[in-house]
Amino acid sequence: MIRSKIRGIGHAVPDRVVTNADLEKLMETTDEWIVERSGIKERHHVDSDTSASDLGVEAARNALEMAKVKPEDVELIIFCTISSDYFFPGSAVQIQEKMGMKNIGAFDLRAACSGFVYGLSVADQFVRTGAHKTVLLIGAEVQSVALTFDTEHRDMAVLFGDGAGAAVLQPSDDESGVLSTHLHSDGKHLQDLWLPAPGSKYRPFMSKKLIDDGLHTPFMNGREVFRNAVTRFPEVIQEALDHNSLSMEDVALIIPHQANLRISQAVAKRIGVGMDKVYSNVQKLGNTTAASIPIAMSEALSEGKFGSGDNIILAAFGAGFTWGSAAIRW
Ligand code: ACO
Repeated sequence: MIRSKIRGIGHAVPDRVVTNADLEKLMETTDEWIVERSGIKERHHVDSDTSASDLGVEAARNALEMAKVKPEDVELIIFCTISSDYFFPGSAVQIQEKMGMKNIGAFDLRAACSGFVYGLSVADQFVRTGAHKTVLLIGAEVQSVALTFDTEHRDMAVLFGDGAGAAVLQPSDDESGVLSTHLHSDGKHLQDLWLPAPGSKYRPFMSKKLIDDGLHTPFMNGREVFRNAVTRFPEVIQEALDHNSLSMEDVALIIPHQANLRISQAVAKRIGVGMDKVYSNVQKLGNTTAASIPIAMSEALSEGKFGSGDNIILAAFGAGFTWGSAAIRW
C-alpha cells in the first residue's frame, strides 16, 4: 500500500502579540498564575476582521510553496477548525475560492483540538487509496473573538491564541510517510469543554436569551480536562508505538497538541522521556486548538528538531473528548 507523505508544511500567526501583562489590565490575573498553571507567556490575537480562512490561506501558501505544488493542482481541501468564518458553510470553500483552486471537494472537520490529527487520518485515507494525489490539510483558528476578557471568564481567556498551520499530502515514493493514525472519542465529557450556543438544540437556534445566559461563550471543566488529557495522551502515543513496533528510542520527537505546558510535562513524565523529546511552543503562542500541531510541526522542522528518515509522533486531545495520534516517518 502506498503511504501518504507530508511534502509541505507551513504556518501563519497574526502579528498582534498579547502578553500576560496585557491580560492583567483586563481581568484579575497575574503573569505568575498563568505561567505556573499553563506555561503561557504570550499569544497572538487577530486584529479587525481577520478570520480563520484568512490565516488558513497564509499557512496554505507556505505549505504549497514548500511542497512545490500549485494551488490548481490541489485535489481536496480539508479545513480543521471550530472557529469557521461563518456558521455554515465551512471555511474550506473559502480557501478554494480565495486561492483560485479548481472546483474540487472542500469540507470542514470539527474535532476541536484533535482536529488536525483527525484531518490527517482522513487525508491519509484519500491518498493511500489513490482517490486523490494532492490533499491540502489546514488547521486554523480564531479563538480570541469567542473569549470574554474579564475576571469571570479568565480561566479560558488566558489560554487561547489564534493561528493556522497547513500540510500538503501526496503519495510517498519510498518507506517514509504517515505510518498510522488512531482516533478516539468519549462523548460523555461533552459538557466538560464546550461552547453550547447557537445550535439546533435551541428554539430559536440563536437568541438574546442564549447570549444573556452566557451560552455563547466557551466553558471548561479544567480539572476534568487535565485529568483526562494526562491519561489519554500517553495511551494514544503508546498505541502509535505498539502499532508500528517502535520504542521511544526510535522516535526523534513527540509533537503534542499545545494545550498547556503542565499537561505536556505530565505526559513526558508518564511516558518516561525528557522535555527535549516533547516539542513545546505554547509559551509564545498559547493554545491554538486545531492549528497547534501543524504550527508546532512547521516550527520544529525549521528548527531542525527532526529531519529526513526520523520518526515523529503527533498526539492530540480535546473537546468531545476526542483524542488521537499519528506516527510519521519524515
Ligand atoms: N488567573 C487567576 N486566577 C484564575 C485564573 C486566571 N487566569 N483562572 C482561574 N483562576 C482561579 C479560579 O477562579 C479559582 O479561584 P477560586 O479558588 O477562588 O475559585 C482558582 O484559580 C483555581 O485555581 P487552582 O486551585 O489552581 O485550580 P486547579 O488546580 O483546578 O487548576 C486549571 C485550574 C489551571 C484550569 C487546571 O485545571 C488546568 O490546568 N486544567 C487544564 C486546562 C487546559 O489546559 N485546558 C487547555 C484547553 S483544552 C485542550 O486544549 C485540551
